[in-house]
Amino acid sequence: MHSILVIGCGSIGERHLRCFQKTGRSEVSVCDANPKLLADVGARYGAKTCSTLKEALEERKFDGLIICTPAQTHLAIAREGARHGAALLIEKPLSVSLDEVDETRAVIAHGGRFTAVAYVFHCFPWVAAAREFLHGGTLGKPLHASVVAGQHFPTFRPAYREIYYTRHETGGGAIQDALTHLVNAMEWMVGPMTRVFCDAAHQRLEGVTVEDTVNISGRHGDVLASYAMTQFQAANEAIFEIHCEQGSLKIESHAQRWGSMMLGETDWTWHTAPPLERDDLFIAQANAFLDGMEGKPTPLCTFDEAVQTLRFNRAALQSAATGLPITIP
Ligand SMILES: NC(=O)c1ccc[n+]([C@@H]2O[C@H](COP(=O)([O-])OP(=O)(O)OC[C@H]3O[C@@H](n4cnc5c(N)ncnc54)[C@H](O)[C@@H]3O)[C@@H](O)[C@H]2O)c1
Repeated sequence: MHSILVIGCGSIGERHLRCFQKTGRSEVSVCDANPKLLADVGARYGAKTCSTLKEALEERKFDGLIICTPAQTHLAIAREGARHGAALLIEKPLSVSLDEVDETRAVIAHGGRFTAVAYVFHCFPWVAAAREFLHGGTLGKPLHASVVAGQHFPTFRPAYREIYYTRHETGGGAIQDALTHLVNAMEWMVGPMTRVFCDAAHQRLEGVTVEDTVNISGRHGDVLASYAMTQFQAANEAIFEIHCEQGSLKIESHAQRWGSMMLGETDWTWHTAPPLERDDLFIAQANAFLDGMEGKPTPLCTFDEAVQTLRFNRAALQSAATGLPITIP
């Protein structure tokens, strides 16, 4: 059994607690700065609780830390965890600035323990299978990519006005909160985003001023790309298309399927995964993290892949603020 500490047992922290418990491979403790929430979550899941990270790390040795606090705190907690000798699963986005990245990378390298970032699309079977097909080369070289996605955020996160989402400084807004997942998934498939022209606005969500709607015209190297995403729309959908020399690839994430169409064909050939609940994807991510801790290969997002997506987040915010395209070095 691996001893795991979940830091921050809010919305996603509670899910990680539940899903790591469901792996049957870990004993999970929790820590949160909010004593009432901590007591409630601890009692509901029969998990050991600690009010501060410092106290938790002094009390016992943890094999792995799951960092589920708001984004501006992720890297400082990651360094504490690495110094403790723990493996790290860090929630997305990695941070809200690049300031502490080099220092944190060095501390993690010194600790020598497995580290991954929880961009959970890496554990969606339909994304992993589409990526494998793309990399198999049948479609030829990718030339154009597009993503059309969104959901009605207030339905899925009724507390959005009271959490990190309200401010860019705490990881809020559509770019850092939601679009970052889509870009990271596309980067995993076709390579890093290298140029970003971003238009974003607050269109609809009540009680906040951060952007809830984003359009991106960008490039992943020589792959031209466009993204359109809203957080107020009725449809909860995410559609990825990648058009290549010999054919096209499409992922309908909401339908848990991916398909391909070769030049000359008129219909998609679909591959639909057996129905999965949201927790199943997080249980898969938890198992992949435990595999990584045991030295096995995993599909999880690496620290440096998440740094690249953080560079995208920063560039998109800068482009939206200045109205100018930004090159990502
Ligand atoms: N992968 C996903 O699908 C997904 C979904 C939701 C959120 N997230 C990410 O997870 C992170 C947390 O989001 P959330 O929705 O769970 O937020 P939340 O506000 O529901 O929970 C955060 C919790 O962290 C606690 N906290 C803050 N600072 C702390 C500290 N220093 N020590 C201990 N506890 C502390 C707060 O008290 C709160 O309970 C964010 O980075 C967010 O972007 C990822």
